Amino acid sequence: MGDDVDLLARLRAGDGAALTQLVGRHHRWLMHAAVSMTGSRELAEDAVQDTWVSVLRGLTAFRGDSSLRTWMFRILVNEVHSGQRRERRSEPTIARSARIQVAMGDGLDSGWEDAVDERISANATARRLSALLPRLPGAQRDAVVLHDIEGLTNDAVASCLGVSVGYERVLLHRGRARLRSLLRDDSTMTRGGSVTPLRDRSSVLVEEGNAHPSTTEPTMTERTQTQTIDETKLEQLMHQMVGYMTGGAICFAIWIGDELGFYRVLAGGEPMTAQQVATATGCNERLVREWLDGQAAGHLIDYDPLHDVYRLSAEEAAALAEEDSPAFVARAMNALGSFFLDADKVMEAYRGDGALAWGDHHPCLFSGTEWLFRAGYRSMLPGWLAAIDGLDATLRRGGSIADVGCGHGASVVVLADTYPNATVTGIDNHAASIEVARRRAEEAGVDDRSSFLVADSRSYDGNFDLICFFDCLHDMGDPVGAARHAREHLTEDGVVMLVEPFALDGRATNMVDNPMSALFYTASSAICAPNSLSQDVGLALGAQAGEERLSAVMSEAGYSTCRRVAETPMNLILEARA
Ligand SMILES: C[S@@+](CC[C@H](N)C(=O)[O-])C[C@H]1O[C@@H](n2cnc3c(N)ncnc32)[C@H](O)[C@@H]1O
Repeated sequence: MGDDVDLLARLRAGDGAALTQLVGRHHRWLMHAAVSMTGSRELAEDAVQDTWVSVLRGLTAFRGDSSLRTWMFRILVNEVHSGQRRERRSEPTIARSARIQVAMGDGLDSGWEDAVDERISANATARRLSALLPRLPGAQRDAVVLHDIEGLTNDAVASCLGVSVGYERVLLHRGRARLRSLLRDDSTMTRGGSVTPLRDRSSVLVEEGNAHPSTTEPTMTERTQTQTIDETKLEQLMHQMVGYMTGGAICFAIWIGDELGFYRVLAGGEPMTAQQVATATGCNERLVREWLDGQAAGHLIDYDPLHDVYRLSAEEAAALAEEDSPAFVARAMNALGSFFLDADKVMEAYRGDGALAWGDHHPCLFSGTEWLFRAGYRSMLPGWLAAIDGLDATLRRGGSIADVGCGHGASVVVLADTYPNATVTGIDNHAASIEVARRRAEEAGVDDRSSFLVADSRSYDGNFDLICFFDCLHDMGDPVGAARHAREHLTEDGVVMLVEPFALDGRATNMVDNPMSALFYTASSAICAPNSLSQDVGLALGAQAGEERLSAVMSEAGYSTCRRVAETPMNLILEARA
């Protein structure tokens, strides 16, 4: 890095020899990584060439936040992903697969490894790994290549891929696990000459983003006709189903545990008997004991069988009892409750035109949404705002903010609290939510600088230094119209902040690589898309649009720039300027 700093200084000073040195130092690494990612020398050369062009163009903008090598890898990853280079992959080299084998080694399950070892040499396994590498979903493959082959640290890989370190580890873990399972299936085919289970084939197709099965693959109808039950897979699926059912039941129990105050009486950390919990909450002892046993069995509450007492650890209290903790999630279960309470209305929408307005849901959706997002806004929103160039200073002096689709106003309270000199206008077309938002502002003592308006996102007046959309643009019937209206109501240097549910670009990738996607797609199908379909235009963008699609919406609405300022496992945070 020290040498690179010197090289950079010389390059910026126009020293031609420095460029030759830079290329000499980094070209080989870049090529190696590019071949690994594309699986083809020809495509890699293309990508690296483009990378050098971007590197030279961007040298003056490089601020040294990461090492030069990491910065260049990041550009390379973008170059590899842009265009259709990946469509023409060929086999990667064996040497690199051998290194993945080492990286995967600690996680190999000994049973199948032994079996593999009996039959094939390590070299042959390496060759098979090479062939399987391109079958990993894009982000997982990039993480494996950059970490296990190129030897980048977790931090550097995260930086290259533009994801958090935690998420990079998830990608790496999944990539290795996927490779292991592909290798295992591959072994089954080699050994017994049997056919790869049909379910696996279809999942590979989905993961590769290939919506059109190749001619050698069976069609969906053929699969259905020839499908036989694999008992092991069925058993795994049943385990998964039990997990989902348990999760659903536990969410219900958390919901009523919060409502009835069970967690709060246990929050002090003192062990309590079922009778004590029942007495303290005025509830039926027999039912309370049953509930407590369910919580202990679900590992949410600790149980001491010797003394027959229950206790909430500090971590459990943070998630389940303490409203102001950044981990508090218990009350968000209201939103899950609304799925079941509104099932009839949602099914009516499915059978009809798809429309179900936000305001027609059970009110527990509104409070569940408030509590789902509130903790995150309180702990992270000031940081997101500070990441937007120049905005923090403007709002500290004063300025004006509009929070469009503000719901119960959790974000309005944080904005008004963070910027006491600014004014905040909360806007929502759902009158009942605005009523609660007004109350929340009073309770928080920020009603002197906040005001509220029942209005559609395309109908408010005034000019604002900041216009925010918190988890709501995708809910709107006309997100482009709402974004355009916001652009027309920005001050000269005004900015739009868009907070949307986290999603990866590309539906197939998102389904496989985004651990939140099952929850978000499900919520979207029951709440977000139906609300959008109930409004004018009815775009039904969906809660899993992803950065690329959201940027396209902003561009269509006339914004000149749209960039990601932050991300969490829950949210993508974008900044757009007119
Ligand atoms: C998922 S909630 C998010 C609420 C709040 N921003 C939060 O993060 O807690 C979506 C909100 O968007 C509002 N909304 C939907 N369509 C709207 C529209 N066309 N104009 C104004 N508000 C709208 C709904 O009423 C609802 O309060």
